[in-house]
Amino acid sequence: MGRCPQCQSWNSLVEEARLPAPPGRGVASGARSVRAASGPVKLVGLASTGAQPVPTGLGELDRVLGGGIIPSSVTLLAGEPGIGKSTLVLQTLAACARKGVTSLLVCAEEAPEQVHRRAIRLGLLEEGMWITSASDVESVASTVCEMRPGVTVVDSIQTVSVSDVASPAGSVAQVRAASQLLADSARSSGSAMVLIGHVTKDGSIAGPRILEHLVDTVLSFEGDRSQSFRILRAVKHRFGAVGEMAMWEMTASGLAEVRDPARMILADRQPGLPGSAIFASMEGQRPMLVEVQALVARNFGGSARRSASGYDQGRLAQVLAVLQARVGLNLGNEDVYVSAVGGVRLDDPGADLAVAMAVTSASTTRVVDQGLVVVGEIGLGGELRSVANMSTRLAEAARHGFARATVPRGTERVQGIAMQPAVTLGEALHAGLRHASAPPRLRVLGA
Ligand code: TYD
Ligand code: MG
Repeated sequence: MGRCPQCQSWNSLVEEARLPAPPGRGVASGARSVRAASGPVKLVGLASTGAQPVPTGLGELDRVLGGGIIPSSVTLLAGEPGIGKSTLVLQTLAACARKGVTSLLVCAEEAPEQVHRRAIRLGLLEEGMWITSASDVESVASTVCEMRPGVTVVDSIQTVSVSDVASPAGSVAQVRAASQLLADSARSSGSAMVLIGHVTKDGSIAGPRILEHLVDTVLSFEGDRSQSFRILRAVKHRFGAVGEMAMWEMTASGLAEVRDPARMILADRQPGLPGSAIFASMEGQRPMLVEVQALVARNFGGSARRSASGYDQGRLAQVLAVLQARVGLNLGNEDVYVSAVGGVRLDDPGADLAVAMAVTSASTTRVVDQGLVVVGEIGLGGELRSVANMSTRLAEAARHGFARATVPRGTERVQGIAMQPAVTLGEALHAGLRHASAPPRLRVLGA
């Protein structure tokens, strides 16, 4: 119909395929175990039926999930192709199997023989791990309801399809229909469902984006594919806190847990290098030291470039503006590059001071004191502001042997580290930067 018979508007009708009846007639939106409720009831009178998390045995993953995976829940594991999602899942299922939790892996992307070969190579072959190459969701859902595995993984949600939906696998309609059916099978079987979803760098693929509100938990697996670090974080979690992160390193024998990320990141730090500052960051409840690097280079024609990796571009512009307006550091004709080392992403406002310090160091002949760690948010007035968890951050810095900390005034003392409190950005820069003992000399070829 070109015109809506009700509201008379033209071309407003959208075609939608009818979905098959889900097994167990559950509500697909996440309202588990209260589906029989009819009228309102008193909240205090409700018996708590929430399932307890089941540890997977993969320590870092369990920490991100707040203890383990919840039966009947639906988790989306999103990440770029090739980042290591299938590897993480295989290691998780093997760890589960060692704890007596059975699993079903729906590998719609690879042949079961391929997965078998990888499992042998990585030493992940365990009893209790089942695999199927089925890609039609109806048969997967009924298998899950029959088998009732502890964990079901669908690798990936973009390659399975529901036969009643006409559009191809990976389309919005398919992804939505498939995940609803799978979610229902999880809820009626008690199996924890993990859906793997590919995203591109800009998150543009329809799949995972539209899935986010359908699932209980969204785990994002990130990292620079050219580097070996991988970071897993919970961006949505109905059963616990978000913001926790876990770090792995991709090695020749699979993903290896990195229990002390700062030690690895700081290991490559070059002493006396201008444009480098150490920031005591918080990743969820865990403190972590991160090196922030900056490079300032003369711009020849065209507008000056500002490039930030692992740090917000708008935030960088703001820090540069404050440096210009309040400290008098004018970088109008310079290109500025800022990067958080190790593929770490700094969403923490406390990173401002480290960025300002690295940039100032890079544009002058001064270097940041080697034993110095910095924390502080920079206000538009050029004032230094405190951020949450100052003591935890500074205790971590002290543990790694940092002797001094430039922090906002009023920060509580922490044992083992000397405080250099500052009220303004100017004061902080003055306290933290010193003249390089031997300014780095550039030998130009032939000169
Ligand atoms: P994979 O888990 O297949 O990524 P995804 O499922 O996210 O697409 O792994 C991606 C890459 O990891 C693969 O191209 C090679 C590398 N890799 C290793 O370096 N070591 C290993 O032990 C494994 C299994 C993979
Ligand atoms: Mg894969």
